[in-house]
Amino acid sequence: MVNTIVAPATAENIAQAAAIIRRGGLVAFPTETVYGLGADALNPDAVAGIFAAKERPAHDPLIVHIATTETLPAITAEIPAQAERLAAEFWPGPLSLILPKGAAVPPNVTANLNTVAVRLPAHPIAQTLIRLSGTPIAAPSANRFGHISPTTAHHVFDDLVGRIDMILDAGPTRLGVESTVLDATVSPPVILRPGAVTLEALQTVLGRVELTRRAAGSPKSPGQLDRHYAPHVPLTLVVGERQAALNSVHKLAQDYLNDGYWVGVMLFSEDVAAFDATSLTIRDIGSQADYTAVARTLYMHLRSLEALGVQRMVARSGTSNHLGLAIQDRLLRAATRIISL
Ligand code: TXA
Ligand code: MG
Repeated sequence: MVNTIVAPATAENIAQAAAIIRRGGLVAFPTETVYGLGADALNPDAVAGIFAAKERPAHDPLIVHIATTETLPAITAEIPAQAERLAAEFWPGPLSLILPKGAAVPPNVTANLNTVAVRLPAHPIAQTLIRLSGTPIAAPSANRFGHISPTTAHHVFDDLVGRIDMILDAGPTRLGVESTVLDATVSPPVILRPGAVTLEALQTVLGRVELTRRAAGSPKSPGQLDRHYAPHVPLTLVVGERQAALNSVHKLAQDYLNDGYWVGVMLFSEDVAAFDATSLTIRDIGSQADYTAVARTLYMHLRSLEALGVQRMVARSGTSNHLGLAIQDRLLRAATRIISL
């Protein structure tokens, strides 16, 4: 057991966090997407600590976070022209670019791949921490492997207390879903994980951008594993046109109730009125007209239903345009059962 310091992200505490990173320790810190679990990306022992704390399998590579593009040549072998354009357009921000790996990056960061994921986060505290640490910071989301990504320091605490040196608290994160992971080593580039930088936004800069087929077999990005970002409660997700999907959610919830389960239902604001809030535990996850707000609190709702102790969860997925694609992707992966109408 490690004594985990939980502290507000004051200048003094960020300096202490940077000292922990420099000596090879583990610090959870806020980014604009979710909280990350950081270690010195150039120190293989520190990086090994991340895998141990999260119980993350060694074959799942980490994202290297930088505070300035001047660090790129030190960690990459080459910067493709399309990557330069994307970095200029979307950094700082929620885009992780897969680039050819530089020799200085230890193999355990990239799970022995010859590519490295790099991101320049927009969160000022993340930037300050990286700068004061004087080294790039490898950071996955600060949750136990496979669990829901943390959007508050409390979520990090629940998953990792006693396993990491420090948690810097700066309140809930602004975006709430992880960065878009884009393979920029191929042309056209391929989205391996949809995220806060949308397919449409990438297309306006590059024209052609492809979406990976979440194929069976060996996924190129373990973020493509079918079940991930998941609550410890069975979740049934209904995919289909709104009215038919709502009917199905209704019936599923009723069947679970009849079987004696405590049922949590996650609904868009527009759908709430059609459900009985006396027998079901309803979570209004926001309006489909505002996916930005839905993304921000999606993980909080999943975690709160789980913490409450509901025994079954039911939800429907919305449309897959813009941020809806990332939201749909996370719901699909959180689901134990998917019903496509
Ligand atoms: O928003 C985010 O991206 C957050 C914050 C902390 O920056 N980080 C995050 O990291 O979500 P993580 O480790 O939970 O997800 C990183 C994803 C994984 O699906 C991993 O497999 C993929 O990026 N990835 C990392 N390096 C890769 C590489 N070289 N090739 C393919 N996929 C890679
Ligand atoms: Mg993660």
